[in-house]
Amino acid sequence: MIRSWHLGDDRQSLVLASFDDRLPEAVYWGPALPTGENLETLSAAALADVTGGMVDRNAGLSLCPEASESFPGQTGLTARNASGAPLMPSFRFESEAASEHGLTLVFADNSLDLSLVFDLVLTPETSLLKLQTRLESADEITVDWLAAPVLPVPAHTGEMIEFSGRWCAEFLTRRLPFAPGSRVRDNRTGRTDHAHFPGLVVCNAGTSNTAGEAFAFHYGWSGGHKMVAEELADGRRQVQFGHATASLSSGRHFVSAPLYATYSATGFNGAAVRFQRHVRDRVVQGARTPRPVHYNCWEAVYFKHDLDELKAIASQAAGLGAERFVLDDGWFGRRDDDTSSLGDWVIDKRKYPDGLTPLIDHIKALGMEFGIWFEPEMVNEDSDLCRAHPDWVLGHADQIRGRQQLVLDMSNQEVRDYLYAHIADVLKNNDIGYIKWDHNRILPVVDAEQAEGFYELVDRLRSDFPAVEIESCSSGGGRIDFGVLERTHRVWLSDSNDALERQRIQHDAALFLPASVTGSHVGPRHCHTSGRTLDIRLRAWTAAQRHMGFEMDPRELTEAEAETLRNVTSWWKANRDWMMQADILRLDSADPAVIAEQQLAGDGSRFVAFAALTRPSDQILPRPLRLTGLDPQGRYRLSLVNRDEAPRLSRGAPFLKHQDLEVSGQYLMSHGLTLPWRFPETVWVVEGERL
Ligand code: GLA
Repeated sequence: MIRSWHLGDDRQSLVLASFDDRLPEAVYWGPALPTGENLETLSAAALADVTGGMVDRNAGLSLCPEASESFPGQTGLTARNASGAPLMPSFRFESEAASEHGLTLVFADNSLDLSLVFDLVLTPETSLLKLQTRLESADEITVDWLAAPVLPVPAHTGEMIEFSGRWCAEFLTRRLPFAPGSRVRDNRTGRTDHAHFPGLVVCNAGTSNTAGEAFAFHYGWSGGHKMVAEELADGRRQVQFGHATASLSSGRHFVSAPLYATYSATGFNGAAVRFQRHVRDRVVQGARTPRPVHYNCWEAVYFKHDLDELKAIASQAAGLGAERFVLDDGWFGRRDDDTSSLGDWVIDKRKYPDGLTPLIDHIKALGMEFGIWFEPEMVNEDSDLCRAHPDWVLGHADQIRGRQQLVLDMSNQEVRDYLYAHIADVLKNNDIGYIKWDHNRILPVVDAEQAEGFYELVDRLRSDFPAVEIESCSSGGGRIDFGVLERTHRVWLSDSNDALERQRIQHDAALFLPASVTGSHVGPRHCHTSGRTLDIRLRAWTAAQRHMGFEMDPRELTEAEAETLRNVTSWWKANRDWMMQADILRLDSADPAVIAEQQLAGDGSRFVAFAALTRPSDQILPRPLRLTGLDPQGRYRLSLVNRDEAPRLSRGAPFLKHQDLEVSGQYLMSHGLTLPWRFPETVWVVEGERL
């Protein structure tokens, strides 16, 4: 007997089938099927043959492949009973229920008193599958691995793009062949981490940003994930995501984080746009519009807080166009460097004898909102908190410190209450609209309760201070995922304010993140993390590609630099209403030295393309830059916004250098834009309007 289900819209179809009441298998995932397709026939048609040397039936590559079926690869569940013996459940269909945009399927193993529930949703409009597995047990058991619903990827996909990275180089992508055996990422840092963004894109050799098939995944969890991308010996392929190994423990109820997945027939951009829109419109709650221009004082003053200097900096930042001033690390306890005071969330009277009010009043008078830095989950041994409560520290006593700090045990209610009380006190007594919430080390133990405790604390603060926006930072982009984005409004993508590095990081992060949540700041002329010296135009345009801000000491700017920055900031402000709602489409540049993208308004009426030349090109003439996502029949007017940046060595007369261009979408997507010659480390900015 076959039971079958369909989750689909006009972009994709996922067909699930349960054979003889066994766990459901995704028998089809790909382009939308025609209405009226017979699901039962389709399910039966997908059954594979058996030959010599095989068992007599292929174990199901189900939403939770079972050890009891002798599944020949990674199983979806690894569990033990109270005496430590492995559990080998064999689940059978129990019930089904329609949910608002999907379904809930319940399977049970009555002999073990276990039930396995799959919550499966296809989010309307954004067309992301949101899939979760729950396991309920009558008895206390230990679970070592519970995968979110497991999906197969088809045989014709031969490659995968996975993510690694490091401090100042988040979202590094790596394209690997899908080969027999498994590719396992087990992130044991206890946080999302720079090195382990929980995403995967399975594709073909020919898939590009703008064309080809892609199956994309993201696991929405901040506590560290495990991923398995496996090709079984029989040739079938599966993708599993769940919490990092050893982060689950004993209990009766277990639940995976949501796995977001989508199929795109239009290259990586097809999937990227769905993730971006989903984050912007459904995950992030209550972000203020328009998105204010930031000023963050970290790289200007570090721990040296002087009221008069900060006021002078704030005045200059406001003059450049900043609308929010974020007071970074150094305002609390006796925090003169990073060896002390984390945990003592009390204003430092040595630096601020009259509290923060004089600074905040100054900032408000300049028309800016005030924001402040916290690192709530951390503690220094040199702090009143640690002296009073050494038992609140997570992990064993002789653990290796990270940035001279320890981690508080967020599963402890007393710890959360203490943090809530101190943060709430600062928020109640000061006019604060924004928190930069940092997390600057990995955990000493892998522990899901830590992330859950963090979620609970943020949720409580969010519900009591609904007007306060929060930025997720973790030494830059060490905690970026849809779990944290459900509770915050912006991510500090990277501690790298090096605009060339930023170009690459922003480009790859756009596979998942919209501009509206992606913080990008104009850093100092001499970059503090790379040692490079970069021109203000490159730095300003790079920040203007995302949620813009400044982080240098504005007093270092020459008048010419300040003018450039004011101009680019005004341009950003004039465009942010539509740009922060636009889709970021990554362009397939014919020149590997060029990183390019096109931000396209949802209604297609306008766009802006940014093309950064990151190093000298191999060929002498700029290669035409092909655009995407336009109406081939439509006519567009294009203008090179920063044509005044063309250097003298551009001696010819390419059209856009002197005048606006009116051409068809077909031309722009097929031939592409002929841009003037320019120096490396520059960005061309081209605005387009549909006529
Ligand atoms: C981390 C953050 C920085 C800054 C410092 C403050 O490194 O990523 O942006 O806030 O902490 O100590």
